[in-house]
Amino acid sequence: MIIVVTGAGGPTGDAVSRYFRKHGHTVIGVGKKDVDLLDRAAVQALAGRVEREHGHVDGVVHLVGGWRGGRSFAETSLDDWDVLHDLLIRTLQHVSLAFEPLLRRSENGRFVIVSAKAAQRPGAGGAVYAAAKAAAEAWTLSLADALKGTSSAATVLVVKALVNDAMRAQDPEGGFPGFTDVNDLAAAIGGLYDRPAAEINGTRLDLTS
Ligand SMILES: NC(=O)c1ccc[n+]([C@@H]2O[C@H](COP(=O)([O-])OP(=O)(O)OC[C@H]3O[C@@H](n4cnc5c(N)ncnc54)[C@H](OP(=O)(O)O)[C@@H]3O)[C@@H](O)[C@H]2O)c1
Repeated sequence: MIIVVTGAGGPTGDAVSRYFRKHGHTVIGVGKKDVDLLDRAAVQALAGRVEREHGHVDGVVHLVGGWRGGRSFAETSLDDWDVLHDLLIRTLQHVSLAFEPLLRRSENGRFVIVSAKAAQRPGAGGAVYAAAKAAAEAWTLSLADALKGTSSAATVLVVKALVNDAMRAQDPEGGFPGFTDVNDLAAAIGGLYDRPAAEINGTRLDLTS
C-alpha cells in the first residue's frame, strides 16, 4: 500500500512509519523539513506528486500535534488558540482537502487523525486544546461524510495521551497510566484495514477502553 504520514518527524511518526514499512508497504513520511503543511499550495503539490509517482493512495495518517493550556479558564491565552489552530486544524484542513480526491478514488483508503479524550471532557485550563481537537474531529467527520459510498473511510482515534520509549527512558518510574504506546497506536491504525470501510467511516474509536 501507499501510506502518506503527515507530521512524521517525531516518535509517533517513526512508530507508524516503521509499522507499515515492516508490513511491506511504501511510506511517504512528511515532516516539516519536507513540506510545510501550513502552506496549502505545497500540500496540494505533495498530493499531485504522490498521484503522479504512485498513481493512488491507500492511507493518509495525519499526526501533527501540539499542546497549549493554562492553569485556569480565566488565564486562557488566545495566542495559544492561534498556535493550536494552525497546528491542529489548519494543517488538517490542507491535508484533507488535498487528498480527498485521491481517497475518493482509492480502492481501500483510510484517513486517520489522533484525537484526545479532552475534546469531549475539557478541563478548565484546557479550553484551547479541547476546542481545537473538537474542531479537528468535526472536520474529519465531515470528510467521512464526503467519503460515504466510496471504498474509503475517515476515522478518529481517541487517546488520553501517547507514550514512547524515549519518554519511558526519561522517566522510568512514570507508569504513564492510561497512555497509549505509539506502537499500539500504529497497530490500531493498521487494524483499520481489517475492517470494512463502511463500518469505520465517520467513527471515533477510543483506544483507551
Ligand atoms: N502526544 C500525546 O500525548 C497526544 C495526545 C492526544 C492526541 N495526540 C495526537 O496524536 C498525534 C501525534 O502526536 P505527537 O505528540 O507525536 O505529535 P507532535 O510531535 O506534536 O507532532 C508531530 C509532528 O508534526 C510535525 N509538524 C508540526 N508542524 C508541522 C508543519 N507545519 N508541517 C509539517 N510537519 C509539522 C512536527 O515536525 P517537526 O518535529 O519537524 O516540527 C512533529 O514532529 C497528534 O495529532 C496529536 O495531536 C497526541
